[in-house]
Amino acid sequence: MKRKVLAILAVAGLVLTGCGGGTGGSGSGGEGASGDKPKIGVTIYKYDDNFMSFVRRAIEKNADKAELIVVDSQNDQAKQNEQVDTLISKGVQALAINLVNPQAASAIIAKARAANLPVIFFNKEPSQSDLQSYEKAWYVGTASEESGIMQGQIIVEAWKAHPEWDKNGDGKIQYVMLKGEPGHPDAEARTKYSIDTVVKAGIQVEKLEEQTGMWDSVKGKELMDAWLAKHGDKIEFVIANNDAMALGAIQSLKANGYFRDGKFMPVVGVDAIPDALTQIREGYMVGSVLNDAKNQGQAVFDLAYNAALGKHPTEGTQWKLGEDKAVRVPYVPITKENLHIAEEAYK
Ligand code: GAL
Ligand code: CA
Repeated sequence: MKRKVLAILAVAGLVLTGCGGGTGGSGSGGEGASGDKPKIGVTIYKYDDNFMSFVRRAIEKNADKAELIVVDSQNDQAKQNEQVDTLISKGVQALAINLVNPQAASAIIAKARAANLPVIFFNKEPSQSDLQSYEKAWYVGTASEESGIMQGQIIVEAWKAHPEWDKNGDGKIQYVMLKGEPGHPDAEARTKYSIDTVVKAGIQVEKLEEQTGMWDSVKGKELMDAWLAKHGDKIEFVIANNDAMALGAIQSLKANGYFRDGKFMPVVGVDAIPDALTQIREGYMVGSVLNDAKNQGQAVFDLAYNAALGKHPTEGTQWKLGEDKAVRVPYVPITKENLHIAEEAYK
């Protein structure tokens, strides 16, 4: 029985190959070759997100192996839903989706299911119940809490090495928190675990401010401007859920007379993007946590490519899927001492 099915498949395969060859013979020779490349539809939640531009670049590096259709969802979930419909109508064989809203996975899964297409979510983690609801859905990202823990460790070590940073000498860190997008698993976990880690190390904290800067540099600067006007030197630490907001805060601090004449403010971020590495090297930023754009982008491509060809998503790759159907690329704490690790990851 099994053999008979295989025989039929083999014949079907021959017929299909025959068709492809025929097309190639009658026209441009390249057509047959490009026909072998799977078509993959990719959405990015918004192109003007600093970190995501590096993930996109890492995906697009593989453009020779597949026909990639990459679109900018412009931070609009309704727009992304329409883009997914269009990608499906264009005949993509796999979807790689950076959701706008992490809660919107079920709507995308419904579309993928109706078209019997595999879908690889990345960066904005869907809920486990959504991922488990469809056998052809997977996730590529990180273990969010790890970034918070590592950021907390950087804060602890730096604080212990610099008793003078406790400007009011009360033994507590008076901090401000620049939060990413509310409800985003990375933002929630980083906000919680950075502080939990500091407290676990026996250092008391006092939160002066916590607001969302939506991962954005301009918003980070605006918030820092307002907080400096309100609290001035009472602020002893700036903790940002990502580097873009940390860089905005540093701009504000520089404009407000910090980093000269003995005036200093410790700032930490996450991502370790090249602009942040420059600030760390020059001493304006205490540290960051490498969010490995290169490997995340590569994993997204590899899984989507395999799935598009009807293979198991991790077949023949270095990536490991957990029970949670996720490939999680590790974070790395980055300070002046190991900048080269992050530089490598953004090459
Ligand atoms: C995070 C990253 C942020 C932002 C966000 C977008 O992982 O640290 O900078 O890019 O993803 O979802
Ligand atoms: Ca203090």
